[in-house]
Amino acid sequence: MTLSKSMQDAINTQINEELYSSYLYLAMAAHFDTENLSGFAHWMKVQAEEERSHAMKFYGYVYDRGGSVVYKGIAQPPAKFKSPIDIFKQVLEHELKITRSITKLYELAVKEKDYASQILLQWFINEQVEEEKNDTEIINQLEMLGDSPVSLMMMDRRLAERK
Ligand code: FEO
Repeated sequence: MTLSKSMQDAINTQINEELYSSYLYLAMAAHFDTENLSGFAHWMKVQAEEERSHAMKFYGYVYDRGGSVVYKGIAQPPAKFKSPIDIFKQVLEHELKITRSITKLYELAVKEKDYASQILLQWFINEQVEEEKNDTEIINQLEMLGDSPVSLMMMDRRLAERK
């Protein structure tokens, strides 16, 4: 069964959200590289790649269902950021927004009795649980450690290990 026009449009919007997420995390990576926090920057670059892979997962799905991908402009990300903890709080805020948009997509799939889209979106719902958990863990650790240079070096080393 071909993807409905409303579902196709909603997924195209979500592709834009995922690509913006990738761009946002690359902006954060650039900020951390400017600050000589290469481990933090590495974490953001890995996250940016993940977001791009999310966009491509939706992209592949649209074509599997006989639809078409239509791109919209990607918004400019911020160029100025605050402390590492503020940045991770911003990441969590952003992911909560993404979770809400994935939930809306799921609700549309339920309304349209589009079971294939529901199955795809369940993967994304699980992914959001994982991302929110990871971001919260990092925020908690940054809160515990404080923002002394030694603490930031420790976190920088830990975040450099992300695969
Ligand atoms: Fe594509 Fe961070 O969710």
